[in-house]
Parts: sequence; structure tokens; C-alpha cells
Amino acid sequence: MAAFDVAKARAHFPSLKSGFIFGDNAGGSQVTQGVVDRISDYLLNTNVQLGADYSVSVESTRRAMTEAPTEAAKLFNAASPDEIVFSHSSTMNLENVARALEGDIKAGDEFIVTSEHEANVGPWKKLAARRGAVIKTWKAMPTSEENPYSLSLKIAELLPLVTPKTRIVAFTACSNILGSIVPVKAVIAALRADAKAKGAPKVEVSVDCVAYAPHRLIDVQDWDVDFAVFSFYKVYGPHISALYVRAATLRASLTPLVHHFLNYEHTAYKLQPGGPSYESAYATTGAIAYLESLAPAPAHDLKQAFAGIAAHEQTLVVPLLGFLTHPAQRARGVRVVGEEQPGPERVPTVSFVVVGPKRIRSRDVVGVFDRRGGIGIRFGHFYAYTLVRDLSPEIDIEDGVVRISFVHYNTVEEVNKVIEILKEVFAA
Ligand SMILES: Cc1ncc(COP(=O)(O)O)c(C=O)c1O
Repeated sequence: MAAFDVAKARAHFPSLKSGFIFGDNAGGSQVTQGVVDRISDYLLNTNVQLGADYSVSVESTRRAMTEAPTEAAKLFNAASPDEIVFSHSSTMNLENVARALEGDIKAGDEFIVTSEHEANVGPWKKLAARRGAVIKTWKAMPTSEENPYSLSLKIAELLPLVTPKTRIVAFTACSNILGSIVPVKAVIAALRADAKAKGAPKVEVSVDCVAYAPHRLIDVQDWDVDFAVFSFYKVYGPHISALYVRAATLRASLTPLVHHFLNYEHTAYKLQPGGPSYESAYATTGAIAYLESLAPAPAHDLKQAFAGIAAHEQTLVVPLLGFLTHPAQRARGVRVVGEEQPGPERVPTVSFVVVGPKRIRSRDVVGVFDRRGGIGIRFGHFYAYTLVRDLSPEIDIEDGVVRISFVHYNTVEEVNKVIEILKEVFAA
């Protein structure tokens, strides 16, 4: 495989020309010129109400209702664009799924959730409260004896939670704090086999792919998942979210959220009350075209594009984790929050805390970067509230963790600059 051409990738992002080091990409990525062009093209040339028969409306409908879901289906490997729905955020999309499922949930049903970003936790907790269902939590456990914060989700902790009453299982494909990839296919296969053996009649699985989609290619068919969601503003596109709903689940379990006279029983559109931002929906096609451009012509295969992304991202995560887990840093009290070892299951979203007698608050670490300027990193709980709250009594929830999150357009030089500043912070 040819080496990943980071300069070629960066040339698509006008904002990177400023030289600012974007290290908060798990919060939101930069957008390509192609995305910006499509937003203005839509607004300047086809900004009319969809569904009419005049030529401009025909084109706006094609862009927003055909081209956008057809292209997004590629990023999910969905069988049909009818399984894709857009909403302004992944939080809203998952809340909509939970509301549409309400009629198919009964008292005593069990939901298994994780302590991850609240978007794929809160809607299930609220649904459980409305219907008298029971919540169980699949907990991340430390992978290193030396570091109680080296948390990772393992199948071994999930299966004992499965019973004949298990109805919903909701987890993240990649944590926005821990930065490690959950083996989604293996988890779902083990879960479904176990649920079947225990006699659970109907289990539906919801996977939050928001922190996964910038780094790896989703495959809903291979994963055998019912609901999957990600936000394009983290995948080099505009502020809009795409949700996948398996066609059979759509028909069997979900009640439409749209007006009673709209006949959308068999498409994911039944989960879309009101229209999303059509210019954004159309502009997502620019993000996908960009990702395809990273793979060699003529196939422009997304699998190859993401293989290149993953390979380059390893060159970013290796030095950063290597520095943070060096014995000198460990002695200083630095603790990575998440899996410590780089590898194919680790993306360059790296969180840490500084504990011990010479504790440094996360706020103060980030403050040094902010005062210097030119680099954007962040501290906090990043809406993975329960995960951070339960880390340790020593960690205050509002102070949380320091998170440095790179993507494929970041360079090794940028990572080294961040490491140089961290060295000074830890030496002080
Ligand atoms: C893992 C994860 N899930 C869900 C979300 C929520 O996405 P949205 O802002 O589109 O609701 C985020 C946002 O940070 C996230 O990181």
C-alpha cells in the first residue's frame, strides 16, 4: 500500500492553511472545500421547497432526498438509502429512535447501556423510565494493572448481563474519551448467540459510531446492527447527523414520528419529523467524495481510503502514547484514561489525567496551551459524564480529563509540538 499522502489530504481543508494545530477533532473536525462549495451551491442555486414539479425543486429534491442518502449509505454500507435518515444531531436521531420504539417496549424489558457519551445512553434511560424497563450497565474495565484508568469495554463483562428479558443493547463503536475501538462485529455476534441460547425473543442493537466514523469504515451489514449513527461534523462535513435503521427493524418495531397523513411506513423517513437542513444534507456528499479521493483511482474504494487513514493515524498515536506512558511520566502521576497500548484498535483520541501528590488539574494543563495559542485541545467530561464521574474520587467531574484528539490530516510534527509543551507542563 502506498504511504498516506498527508499533504494531499491537507490541501482539501482551507482552515489548515493557517497553521493552527487542530487537536480537538473528536469535538468537531475541519471541513473540506468540497463541502463548503456544495453548501453554497445548494443555497445559491436550488434553495426551494422540495417535492414540487418545477425544475429547480426537482433538482433540490434529487440532491437532498436521493443523492445525500445514497452517498451516506456508502459510509454505513447500508443495503438501501431508504435505511438512512438525517437529523441535526446524533443525539436527536437516537432520541427519535427511542421515541419511535416506545410502543414496542414493555415493563420488565431489559436495556444494556454503557457509561459512554450520553447520546446513546440517555434516550434509553428515559425510554426505560417511561415504559418500566430495567437499565443495566456494561462497564469498561482496566486493561493494565499499573493504571486503573486504562479502561476498555470487553465482551466478558457484557455477556453476564444478558438474560431472556434483554431487549436493547446500546454501546459505542469507539469511545470519544478512551479512544479504543470496540470489536463491534464480535460483540454483536457473541451477544446474539448468548441471547438466543438464553431465550431472549427480540434483541435490537444500537451502536454510536460518532467517534468511530472519522477513523474507520462502518459496516452495518457485516456487524448485524439495527441502529447506527454518526455526525458529519466530525467526519469532515457540516453539522448534520446520519442514522442507519435496518429495514426489517424499521417495519417491525418502529412507529412513525411523522404526520399521520405522510405515507413513510417503509423508509427511515418515518423517523424524521420535519425537514433537516437540506443544504447540509447535500453537502455531506462532499465529505464522502473527499474520503473516496484518498483511495487510488479508478476504484476510489472507501475501504482502501480508511486503511490509509488508519495507517497514518498510527504514526500519530504511537509517539503520543509512548510519551504519556513513559516511566518518567508515570512517576510524575500522568495516567492515560483508556487503553495505553497503540495498535489497530487505538485511534488518536488520547485522554489523560495527572494524579498524585503533584496533581495538575486538567484545566491547568489545557490553560498552558491556550495561553500559548496556536493549538486547540480541551478538558472536561465531553458528555461521557458517567464514565468520567466514576473514574476516581480524585477527579472532579467538571475538571475531567485532558483530551488530545487528532485525525488523519494531523502531522507527526504537530504531535511533537504538543509533546514539547506537555514536557514543560509536567516539568513545572
Ligand atoms: C461518541 C459520541 N457520541 C455522540 C455524540 C453526540 O453527537 P451530536 O453532537 O451530533 O449529538 C458525540 C459528540 O461529541 C460523541 O463524541
